[in-house]
Amino acid sequence: MPAPAPKPPLPKAELHVHIEGTLEPEAAFAFAGRNGVRLPYASEEELRRACSFTGLQSLLDLQQKLTVVLRTEEDFADLAAGYLDRARAQGVRHAEIFFDPQAHTSRGVPFATVIDGLTRVLDTAQETYGISTRLIMCFLRDESAASALAAFEAARPYLDRITAVGLDSAEAHHPPSKFADVYALARQAGLKCVAHAGEEGPAAYVWEALDILKVDRIDHGVSAMEDERLVARLAEEQVPLTLCPLSNVRLRVVEDLADHPLPAMLKAGLLVTVNSDDPAYFGGYVHDNFTAVRDALGLDEETLRALARNSFRAAFLDEPTREKYLREVAAY
Ligand code: ADE
Ligand code: ZN
Repeated sequence: MPAPAPKPPLPKAELHVHIEGTLEPEAAFAFAGRNGVRLPYASEEELRRACSFTGLQSLLDLQQKLTVVLRTEEDFADLAAGYLDRARAQGVRHAEIFFDPQAHTSRGVPFATVIDGLTRVLDTAQETYGISTRLIMCFLRDESAASALAAFEAARPYLDRITAVGLDSAEAHHPPSKFADVYALARQAGLKCVAHAGEEGPAAYVWEALDILKVDRIDHGVSAMEDERLVARLAEEQVPLTLCPLSNVRLRVVEDLADHPLPAMLKAGLLVTVNSDDPAYFGGYVHDNFTAVRDALGLDEETLRALARNSFRAAFLDEPTREKYLREVAAY
């Protein structure tokens, strides 16, 4: 008798993944080859060895070196297809995907090339991969507020393809308040708002993201645990936090996975979710994050199921679709 098929992973939504962070070494070399770009690494192996980080900035520096291989619509389409293929195997049923237009337009790749490439694949992702998708356009917080406003104006003709705006890149010394104007425009245009806050930055940046940017979710939010009043606010308003545990270890936000505040956050009644961030750079996609926290923090099956439910509760979904996904988790 054949062995029973292994149980598929828990159905889940992924709410914090940077499409540029899904560029696997193999794809980086393939895109470099077809675009005639030379990478500063002799082999995939050498590139994998370079994925050793001292903090967020060292990741951003490496990503900048590799992002130059993304030049054509085809590249962005293939990047999205590669992510969705891996996400499907990880039980992802819904994905809300970040992209960084300024990282591409600043080196001469038009906004249209990026979004047309991505949406060519995302538009058929439900049929092809069984995954519903949303796009979240992020502003690079270490660029100027004027640059973010220009990026938003470049995006205006495409807002029907964009669900939310976000804020990423180097957090220290770049408070959310710097982007108050562009977030106000995004809200006026009917977009949802999220922002990275409290990854390397202080709890004060989480307050600013809530009070000034009026975000619907906080990306990371680890340092919120240093501020009791903030924890009470996040719990009271059930503001979702998109945690990325393996990222936090690799970027030294926490020393060890066993020290991660996720259990304390759950105990405090926060609406936490588990995500992958830049999976090609951290060696783990979203289900790998689920199993890593299960093993390091001793989470039981019911807690993992609660995290999966939270991922759909926190997603930008219409209610019937949300209910459908929650039923899938219940039936698992
Ligand atoms: N861009 C890619 N990964 C990021 C992270 N973890 N924090 C901020 N910006 C990022
Ligand atoms: Zn991130």
